[in-house]
Amino acid sequence: MSYLIVGGTAGIGNEIVRRLSSKGNKVFVTGRTQKNLDEINNVDFYEWNSEDENSQLPEISEPLSGIVYCPGTIILKPFKNLTDNDFLYEYTVNLLGAVRVIRKYLPNLKSSENSAIVLFSTVAVQMGMSFHSSIASAKGAIEGLTRSLAAEFAPSIRVNCIAPSLTDTALAGKLLGNEEKRDAAAKRHPLNKFGTVEDIASAAVYLLSSDSGWITGQIMSVDGGMSSVKTF
Ligand SMILES: NC(=O)c1ccc[n+]([C@@H]2O[C@H](COP(=O)([O-])OP(=O)(O)OC[C@H]3O[C@@H](n4cnc5c(N)ncnc54)[C@H](OP(=O)(O)O)[C@@H]3O)[C@@H](O)[C@H]2O)c1
Repeated sequence: MSYLIVGGTAGIGNEIVRRLSSKGNKVFVTGRTQKNLDEINNVDFYEWNSEDENSQLPEISEPLSGIVYCPGTIILKPFKNLTDNDFLYEYTVNLLGAVRVIRKYLPNLKSSENSAIVLFSTVAVQMGMSFHSSIASAKGAIEGLTRSLAAEFAPSIRVNCIAPSLTDTALAGKLLGNEEKRDAAAKRHPLNKFGTVEDIASAAVYLLSSDSGWITGQIMSVDGGMSSVKTF
């Protein structure tokens, strides 16, 4: 089977690429620069930047069994310091980029017998968190997109979304930059750890697979219990 992982050169996306490739799938991968793909089999890389309107998504002629849209941003500021451009930037990378990708490859998904789309939100949509208003707004839009498209594309294409809590990738680098921060971050989660790329990629691969064949329109919390559990 063939999959497209947008933002598959780092972080969670790269782990998804590794898992799909190890099962013998063909994987089309995009990123702003090529990296972390050398030792992975059956991968085609294409440069694409969701911030750049002139950047062209690759032409793919074959059916796609699944697409995962991974590019994300995180501007954490008090509301009074957030500019229109901050909101537009987060909306462009997180929401509009996903819209453009899905529009472009809808025919490829339709020509596959069972196909699936996986998008990314954040725990900060379900829980109100200080300084998260621009990213939570953009990811809230992703959750709305997920449910709308799940309805519109049923029964042929399933559409689901993962809402992670803090996960150890470059995107979260500033929040997990030293031992003190890592320790505090782990303790904030009921399961006493922050996320790893493996924790999140396993959920994404499940949502792409026929094992989740009766699941669509869901926002799956993969967050160490953060959004739903309080330990005393
Ligand atoms: N990490 C967390 O704590 C966390 C928490 C909640 C939600 N999430 C969400 O989970 C998803 C994956 O996050 P991650 O932590 O794996 O991110 P990451 O480590 O920053 O990886 C993002 C991937 O997307 C690509 N990318 C980034 N910006 C792009 C852009 N403007 N245009 C095209 N490609 C771009 C990157 O490749 P290049 O650098 O080569 O462009 C990379 O392959 C994101 O949607 C994020 O919002 C993450």
